[in-house]
Amino acid sequence: MAATRISNLDETFYQPADKFFPANHKTGLTFDDITLATLYSEILPRDTQLDTVLTEQLCLNIPVISSDMDTVTESRMAIAMAINGGLGLIHYNMPEKQQLSEVSRVKFHVQGLIQEPIQVSPDQFIGDVLKLIEQKKFGFSTFPVVDDKGRLVGLLSGHVVKPRYAAKKVSDALTPRKQVHSITKKELGKDPIARADKFFTEHIGIHKLLVVDDEDNLHGLITLSDVERIQLERKAQFKPARDAQFRLLCGAAVSATRNAFGELDRERILTHVGGLVERGVDVVAVSTAHGHSKGVGDTVKVLRDAFPKLPIIAGNVTSAAGVQYLADCGANAIKVGQGPGSICTTRMVAGVGIPQMTALYVCQRAAAKKKVAVLADGGITKSGDIVKAMTLSQAVICGGIFAGCTEAPGEVVEISGKMYKHYRGMGSLAAMKSGSAARYGHEKSDATRKLAAEGIEALKEVCGSVDRVLAQLIGGIQSGMGYLGAKNLDELRQKARYIRVSPAGQREAAPHDVVELKTGN
Ligand code: XMP
Repeated sequence: MAATRISNLDETFYQPADKFFPANHKTGLTFDDITLATLYSEILPRDTQLDTVLTEQLCLNIPVISSDMDTVTESRMAIAMAINGGLGLIHYNMPEKQQLSEVSRVKFHVQGLIQEPIQVSPDQFIGDVLKLIEQKKFGFSTFPVVDDKGRLVGLLSGHVVKPRYAAKKVSDALTPRKQVHSITKKELGKDPIARADKFFTEHIGIHKLLVVDDEDNLHGLITLSDVERIQLERKAQFKPARDAQFRLLCGAAVSATRNAFGELDRERILTHVGGLVERGVDVVAVSTAHGHSKGVGDTVKVLRDAFPKLPIIAGNVTSAAGVQYLADCGANAIKVGQGPGSICTTRMVAGVGIPQMTALYVCQRAAAKKKVAVLADGGITKSGDIVKAMTLSQAVICGGIFAGCTEAPGEVVEISGKMYKHYRGMGSLAAMKSGSAARYGHEKSDATRKLAAEGIEALKEVCGSVDRVLAQLIGGIQSGMGYLGAKNLDELRQKARYIRVSPAGQREAAPHDVVELKTGN
């Protein structure tokens, strides 16, 4: 068919990766330096498949992972990522015990069940509750009321949380326990959402169902709106990423921890990862700025020997030798990226790092030989970058894109009427002081030497929920695949053809010569 015949002209200008990147080997190229050529297509964006295999045991339904950074991924983010079909890597800038609990929260998360609902006590005043809502910017005003032993004593309905009742006590305004609908954890059974759905259908006008144990201690809250949203999501194209026991997938980052003598602390690493495995972690990521190093290689070897089946991510590297080294040590997926991140200063401070598309090409070709996956880590600012990255990798890792989401750790701050969240590099001074110094080859306790920061502290504008951000990104990835006639990510990798873009071409690619009324997102 004429439509599918590739003309010689096209071949001259738009080249596949194995021609394009070697032909440009003297210049490091990143996302905006290149663009992808379109191809004849019979594929509609909505019909494209985004599932990706990272290791034999680890498949995602969308190729997007949230960074192991202390302003990006804790349990809330990991839950949201997995519900959308991706994965969150819980950061390690916290006590090891806490990281275990964060993983447990994800693995035991029951979708739709708010496991730690915000509670109020009978002795508080309605005015206190109003202040709490204002301070924390809660978008809801109904709260379970519990006594000091954690027992449910009633429900404070949003109808009475009004300034007019500020001087009244919660105990005088609550709906008493007898009139509050509840269910025990046991009664919820294997499919809590289906059970709650049935309950709401049978109880007209009731929007909240409280979950208790046999002693009437509060264990959660299910809302009608969440149940309705989840029932809709069950019909969605991209299913949550789950393990064989139907639990959400969760990853955790670990560092190449050293003991007081500067040697790798094998025992501590093994005990900690053993704990993570017991909690059901699906993958660990040995995360450092320089993955092609003895400490990272030895950590991966120790873990591979002790946990032969555990999927291991390791990094970061930007060279073929780095990929080979980590693969030979036993890693299954390699993080590629040194200095592309939005908060990174490694290239300026240390003078090292490779622009991301060139690094991905080099690493992907080495990874294919070793049969390991490549994760494109850092520098993603828009869905088009993901499409380009996915032509040379199995998934992308994003920090900045998710740091302004509701699910990212940290409080919202208001500056001149705009809402922001803190976002900081793990190599920033503040983050290293909280524990991530080892990632950059420094000691946290090294008071005699100044730590050389390789990251900055910044703000990200609040951007709503992960669901919303991912919906935009996924839509963009699917569009890109439609333009290339690729029905899945394998086909995207096979069909990609590249051309360099001039500075004028880069300007042309963004909105120009107009007064922008609304941004695209
Ligand atoms: P984005 O661009 O998504 O990048 O915000 C997130 C990735 O950046 C890496 N990272 C750092 N790199 N100094 C660095 O050079 C830092 O302080 C730093 N903190 C995070 C990391 O790979 C992350 O996934």
